[in-house]
Amino acid sequence: MTDSRPIGFFDSGVGGLSVWKEVVRRLPHEATIYFADSAHCPYGSRPIAVVRALSAAITRFLLAQDCKLIVVACNTASAAALEWLRAEFDVPIVGMEPALKPAAEATQTGHVGVLATEGTLNGYLFKNTAQRHTGGIKVHVQVGEGLVEQVELGRLDTPETERLLRQYLEPMLAAQVDQIALGCTHYPLLLPLIERIVADRAQVIDPAQAVARQVQRVLMLHSLETAAGCVAWHRFYTTGQKELLAALLSQLKWKRVEISRVQLEPARNASGAD
Ligand code: DGL
Repeated sequence: MTDSRPIGFFDSGVGGLSVWKEVVRRLPHEATIYFADSAHCPYGSRPIAVVRALSAAITRFLLAQDCKLIVVACNTASAAALEWLRAEFDVPIVGMEPALKPAAEATQTGHVGVLATEGTLNGYLFKNTAQRHTGGIKVHVQVGEGLVEQVELGRLDTPETERLLRQYLEPMLAAQVDQIALGCTHYPLLLPLIERIVADRAQVIDPAQAVARQVQRVLMLHSLETAAGCVAWHRFYTTGQKELLAALLSQLKWKRVEISRVQLEPARNASGAD
């Protein structure tokens, strides 16, 4: 049995593309729909109830487009809403959390760093993982204040973005951190700059490939895979500017993509593609 319906992705903005591209690379026959809620970005400092309402509205939108599986390609929305969404909606949902476990397993110095949003670092998922996997290891957490906004403006490699990254990463490196987990899906879009700053002083962990493997496992578990010969299609929605999404997709070598602008009404269904 095969299922050619699309996989739905959402993020507070364009950051979830870092996850989307790994899933598309791993599962090239699967159709996808990506929803960027750039009009409400950043989610990181919003109250949990607001992030849940936005996440629920987007999930309803994606289900109305017949998505067979939802990927919450946003650490902050996962921290605020993952378990709640799973209880609310009858669809398999894959979420994100900072890759603390692999970081804790790989560290030689006993110091690991996590760069994430305030919402993620305060969330239950992170605290729970931190307790379970980091006995004897010092976790250095840092809120990446302003980084999501820089990515949303397309400023992936500007002096200001570099200044912010240095401000957050240098103290970690000075504290002997040798593993840095990127706990926000916007941050891997800054990887060339991050790697230039970190150089060979630490390993930077982007969880996107692990999430892509998990998406594949969940599809198999629920018999939701499409046939190998299927020609995949990809559709994009944004509550913000289409141009930014188009520019980032083009940097990822995806040109001539179909992008629609939509409005989101958190209390009710999302509506109004133009
Ligand atoms: N990409 C989102 C995440 O992974 C960004 C959060 C935000 O909008 O603050 O957390």
